[in-house]
Amino acid sequence: MTIDQAKAIDEDRVNQLVEQALGDFGSIMLGALVVVGDRLGLFRALADGEARTPAELATQAGVIERNVREWLAALAAGGYVTYEGDDRYSLSAEQAEVLTNETSPAFVMGGFQVTTAAAKSDEAITEAFRTGAGVGWHQHHHDLFHGTERFFRPGYAANLAQSWIPSLEGVEQKLLDGAEVADVGCGFGSSTVIMAQAYPESSFVGFDYHEESIEAARKAAVEAGVADRARFEVAKAKSFPGSGYDLICFFDCLHDMGDPVGGLRHTRNALAEGGTAMLVEPFAGNSVEENLNPVGRIFYAASTLICTPASQSQEVGLALGAQAGEARLRAVAEEAGFTSFRRAAETPFNLVLEARA
Ligand SMILES: C[S@@+](CC[C@H](N)C(=O)[O-])C[C@H]1O[C@@H](n2cnc3c(N)ncnc32)[C@H](O)[C@@H]1O
Repeated sequence: MTIDQAKAIDEDRVNQLVEQALGDFGSIMLGALVVVGDRLGLFRALADGEARTPAELATQAGVIERNVREWLAALAAGGYVTYEGDDRYSLSAEQAEVLTNETSPAFVMGGFQVTTAAAKSDEAITEAFRTGAGVGWHQHHHDLFHGTERFFRPGYAANLAQSWIPSLEGVEQKLLDGAEVADVGCGFGSSTVIMAQAYPESSFVGFDYHEESIEAARKAAVEAGVADRARFEVAKAKSFPGSGYDLICFFDCLHDMGDPVGGLRHTRNALAEGGTAMLVEPFAGNSVEENLNPVGRIFYAASTLICTPASQSQEVGLALGAQAGEARLRAVAEEAGFTSFRRAAETPFNLVLEARA
């Protein structure tokens, strides 16, 4: 660095970046501790709002007091636990809602599981940058699969039957009357089960190439009492069985696929006359500039760690990325033969796109 370059450094900006990095160090380590607390049931033990000493909480959870003491102090410093003084800690009603209420739209635990699981793959991701061979969805830590389900389920429960399905032309009535629906890349099947609960006259089949996810989805359907109308099969987007579907859905997975054009071409052929494909994708604008914001920060990072290498690990390896944006997704759908494509709905985190043949 020359003396002139050194002089050009803005000290205030340097200090701002150091401050930002300090915040990020805390976030990364706290993320791991939040997941530890979830696994051990520490948050659930505190969810009643009663203040406890570290020893009381440790006894209740059946773990070691010294570790719990340090954990409580870290979480209190991070704002996820409340220190009441006198060596006692509690969860406020808001902390309990966000950390323990699995059905709340504000439930964040799945997000922590996803981010910490993705970080565990950092060495494989580094290697994938060198080789281009990618890292398959199935190659990540199992917390990624479970965390994704916990992260997305509350959003599907709040939006699917309430606004996303009704936003599609003529689809809600078909589902109320009795329709055939496929959920491609269904993961643990939460979207499939939610639709099966909302539309008891319709039949649903979830497909995913990941066997462990399909097993979990089958269990979820049994537990929800909808196994008679929601079944699950291991299958890829380009070759799932069946035809004459009235609706084929892709929830947050098209961009993870190696050949999304091939998957959508197969989908178009599998639709009934007048059928609809629904693509739910992460919210994004069409340019990098539009996505340089807190939501884009999360999605670009997830895309680099998870989605882009997942696509690269499969045939074609188009690697759309999680911030592809509507224009790029429209081009993919049109290349697959869809002639009608529109944004049917959106949330701060999702684009809901309708494609028709
Ligand atoms: C981000 S997860 C979304 C899972 C689920 N749709 C949800 O919203 O919870 C992406 C899913 O796509 C699946 N997937 C990736 N490539 C696939 C392919 N070519 N065919 C079928 N499923 C695929 C993965 O196994 C994974 O379950």
